[in-house]
Amino acid sequence: MSGMSERGGHVPVMLSETVAFFEQKRLEVFFEGTVGGGGHAKEILQQHPELKRYLACDQDQEALQAAKEALAPWKEKVELIHGNFSLLEHFLQERGIDKVDGFFLIWGSHPSSWNGERGDLVF
Ligand SMILES: C[S@@+](CC[C@H](N)C(=O)[O-])C[C@H]1O[C@@H](n2cnc3c(N)ncnc32)[C@H](O)[C@@H]1O
Repeated sequence: MSGMSERGGHVPVMLSETVAFFEQKRLEVFFEGTVGGGGHAKEILQQHPELKRYLACDQDQEALQAAKEALAPWKEKVELIHGNFSLLEHFLQERGIDKVDGFFLIWGSHPSSWNGERGDLVF
C-alpha cells in the first residue's frame, strides 16, 4: 500500500518487487503511468542505464513537481507528462513511439490530493 514516511514524504510501495520484475530486461523506452514523487522511477533509472527515454505521467501537478526534483539527475532521459494514464496510446502516438519495453501503474493518490480524511482515487 501507499504510505507516508515519518517525515511526511511519499514512500513508494512494492519498490523491490517492481525493480525485480524488470531486472533481466533490456529497457530503452519506458512508460510509467503514475510517477508520483518519482521513487520507482529513480530506482528503475539507476538499475537500467541503457534507458533512453523514460516517459513519466501523472495527473497531479504537485506530484510532477516532486518527480521533477527527484529525477533531475536523469533529466535528459525523463519526460514528465501531465495527464491521465488512460491516454497512453495518445501520448505515445504524438511522440512517434510505437512500442515501449516496459510500463507499469501503481495506482493510488498522491499525498498532495489528500483532504485529511481520505484520498480521492479516481480514474
Ligand atoms: C501510489 S502513487 C505513485 C507512486 C510513485 N510511483 C512513486 O514512486 O512515488 C499514485 C499516483 O498515481 C497518480 N494517479 C492516480 N490515478 C491516475 C491516473 N488515472 N492517471 C495518472 N495518474 C494517476 C496519483 O496522482 C499519484 O501521484
